Amino acid sequence: MSHDSDALVFFGASGDLAHKKIFPSLHALVSRGVLDVPVIGVAKAGWTLDDLKQRARESVETHDAAFDKLLGLLRYVDGDYADEATFTELCRQLGGAVSPLHYLAIPPSLFGAVVEQLDRCGAAKDARVVIEKPFGHNLATAEELNRVLHSVFPESSIFRIDHYLGKEPVENIVYTRFANTFLEPLLRREYVDHVQITMAESFGVQGRGRFYEEAGTIRDVVQNHLLQVLALLGMDPPSEHGSEAMRDEKVRFMRSLVPLKPHDVVRGQFIGYLDEDGVAPNSTVETFVAVRLHLDSWRWSGVPFLIRAGKNLPVTATEINVVLKRPPQRVFDPGTPNKIRFQINPDVIVSLDVRAKTPGETMRGHDVSLDFDENASDDMEPYERLLGDALKGDQELFARQDTVEAAWRVVDDILDNATPVHQYEPGSWGPAEANKLLPRGAEWLPPKISGDQS
Ligand code: BG6
Repeated sequence: MSHDSDALVFFGASGDLAHKKIFPSLHALVSRGVLDVPVIGVAKAGWTLDDLKQRARESVETHDAAFDKLLGLLRYVDGDYADEATFTELCRQLGGAVSPLHYLAIPPSLFGAVVEQLDRCGAAKDARVVIEKPFGHNLATAEELNRVLHSVFPESSIFRIDHYLGKEPVENIVYTRFANTFLEPLLRREYVDHVQITMAESFGVQGRGRFYEEAGTIRDVVQNHLLQVLALLGMDPPSEHGSEAMRDEKVRFMRSLVPLKPHDVVRGQFIGYLDEDGVAPNSTVETFVAVRLHLDSWRWSGVPFLIRAGKNLPVTATEINVVLKRPPQRVFDPGTPNKIRFQINPDVIVSLDVRAKTPGETMRGHDVSLDFDENASDDMEPYERLLGDALKGDQELFARQDTVEAAWRVVDDILDNATPVHQYEPGSWGPAEANKLLPRGAEWLPPKISGDQS
């Protein structure tokens, strides 16, 4: 299916995601001339079309001509997702549209009922469906979710949003790797000592305690965003053109990750988490995690891949550091090892950290950073890019079933209380136990922040 969708239906129109991300993205898509089909919001809020328009007005900052055009495209259906009448009305509103895109911005527990109703009323035929993470709660529930979706939609019509895949600097990782000759030969076990990925957030759970209790850091950002980023860094180049070839290589990489065992995991919880709204007084849910991954592959065998992520850490930044082995002979002062650094957030940076001779009589050196890509983030938001791609039927930046299930397989044995949770001070780098995961002589590398984050 490569035709454009001729209507966009979004379930959960009165929800938070619609308010924060969907309306602004729709506005941007209309501004770029990409969206010019009916947009039907569905919710059970007792709303009218005017209420939906009002919500759009509150959510979009600029009320320009494109915004007026968006208002003109909006339709609204109010009703329960379990009620057939809601879907009869939806089909009426779809009018002559024959290949709609259905965006399920609703809790996963409702996916089953909605796709069944879409099927029953005929609105699933030649349609596409977009879903949001979490794609299941563990491997078994992810497989079950995929069974439900596949009972109505073929995989080629399912678009799983992992918004990290829509980020410009994340796409830049694969671009930089496969558009240059000099970098790729270094990315293998002969040259790489270890790899570190840090995703730090300087804020807490921001009122989302109830959600976080169901998730924890492993489910919230590791199983999805960070394993996807890791795959883009470590996968082999595709041998064919096209988006499926990319996704094939990604799943090959994901499958070569050895499932995590408790001794490769350190979980933490910031002091104060238990006082958050919606958090159980004795909760052992993690707000920080560090893991050490290994790969069973020719390219990466023996190279530790370390990931750490957490809330209430000293900065907000996401950075990958590929730490290279030291030169085989110690001719000069050992200094720090070379690093290839990809910063995803707050800046978009690709750099090589190397040693250079310090001017003078002695053969001593200092660290120099060669930044070969540094740009302000593209102004296209991930949701705008992803929704635009889904409307066109381009699946490259969406998570495929096999990759999602392979990622769950990696974390399945360490979910919930498989390991103890250590407390840490807000504003610190998490529990000191995380240091034990590092290779001998290595330390966790704090992301390099140029601007002021206060
Ligand atoms: C979301 C998580 O998927 O990603 C949040 O649920 C997290 O907990 C967010 O804060 C981070 O996304 P970004 O784009 O701000 O790095």
